[in-house]
Amino acid sequence: MFSTQTYTDRRQRLAQFLGSGLILLPGNGEAAMNYRGNTYPFKQDSNFRYFAGHNQPDLVLTIDAATGESRLHGDDLTLDDVVWMGEHPSTAELAERIGACSGTLEELSRLLKSAKNVHYLPPYRAERHRHIEEWLGEGTTPSKALIRAVVELRSVKSAEEIAEMEKAVRTSLSMHAAARKTATPGMTEAEVAGLIEGIAIAGGGRLSYPAIVTRNGHILHNHYHGNTLEEGDLLLIDAGAETSSGYAGDLTRTFAVGRDMTERQQTVYDIVDDAKRRVIEAIRPGIPYRELHDLSARIIVDGLKDIGLMRGDTDEAVATGAHALFYPHGLGHLIGLDVHDMEDLGEDLVGYDDEITRSPLFGTRNLRLGRRLREGFVITVEPGIYFIPTLIDRWRADKRHTEFINFAAVDAYRNFGGIRLEDDVVVTGGGARVLGNRE
Ligand code: GLY
Ligand code: MN
Ligand code: MN
Repeated sequence: MFSTQTYTDRRQRLAQFLGSGLILLPGNGEAAMNYRGNTYPFKQDSNFRYFAGHNQPDLVLTIDAATGESRLHGDDLTLDDVVWMGEHPSTAELAERIGACSGTLEELSRLLKSAKNVHYLPPYRAERHRHIEEWLGEGTTPSKALIRAVVELRSVKSAEEIAEMEKAVRTSLSMHAAARKTATPGMTEAEVAGLIEGIAIAGGGRLSYPAIVTRNGHILHNHYHGNTLEEGDLLLIDAGAETSSGYAGDLTRTFAVGRDMTERQQTVYDIVDDAKRRVIEAIRPGIPYRELHDLSARIIVDGLKDIGLMRGDTDEAVATGAHALFYPHGLGHLIGLDVHDMEDLGEDLVGYDDEITRSPLFGTRNLRLGRRLREGFVITVEPGIYFIPTLIDRWRADKRHTEFINFAAVDAYRNFGGIRLEDDVVVTGGGARVLGNRE
């Protein structure tokens, strides 16, 4: 946790943004995996954690936006709880640690029933939805003003947050280095995944999202780990650590198992690496991230033209979305307490604004962040090239973008898999800094 002052300052700023009404920020409870006593690993709500710091279940923060007065609500452990779970600080002690008053959940219920104007964020768990209906009655809606204020505050990371993210990325780099050193023909993807997860846990935290460890890197979110690695497989690993303070790393590396890459693998790798490097060089405050996405797409199209897979005018190919056959996702996203930071608040409210709106084009519409970058944003940069047989066959049958795609040449790459490279980058006054030690 950070200092008491950090949390009181954050809440003060939030109250000033809203000006009036009662801000309601519930923390998460435990979630049953298959029965109440066997739970998923506890994950705190990131908005609660940002303003209240604590990582215990069943706490609720309220802030009176007019006065700035904050109250942490929770019920102290019963004697039975202490027998099973040990001593825990009281709600009053937890509240004092963050410069807030304290109250019980019963008092919270009464407070909310009598409050006139309650601001809350969009619930993403059924349980939260049910609590909000119990507290406020049916038919209320999340507060756009609160969403906007939280996005404004959480988008720009402070020096102490960036230091935590450095730690997350350093552990993530160790995970990738160990995987590269260890992955050999005959091992399963699961063995590599286990090694990676162990390093995240040994670092004092855990994985920041389920790891992707796959010889089928063209399946973008592939969490199957059942394959055995063969010499020369391209192994794509997208894995990051979360620190004990809750901040995430998100890195992707791709390498050939058991030997150097073939010339063909290396050529495609170099195109992706070039896109990542040149995008990072172009990052600066004020540039729309959407522009950087388009830059990465142009570099990929130029590279694919060089090896005969694409043709025609590069700008036109990107404008019409032809590159998305090979690069069907966005360049990256904001990262912080969440891997896709604040995605629970609504992708468009976090990543877009009145000036830059989401493209409807296949591929480009998956870009989570389009708006202009600001100093203190932490973002991922993760271009990739993939050969997805079903997509290739469908586009060829539909004669899509034949002006730009040489389908006959693409056939030779059907079993190539995919390559993605991902770094986490902080936007600085003069440009960008890649977090962690670069390979
Ligand atoms: N690891 C998920 C992502 O890269 O967005
Ligand atoms: Mn990733
Ligand atoms: Mn990412």
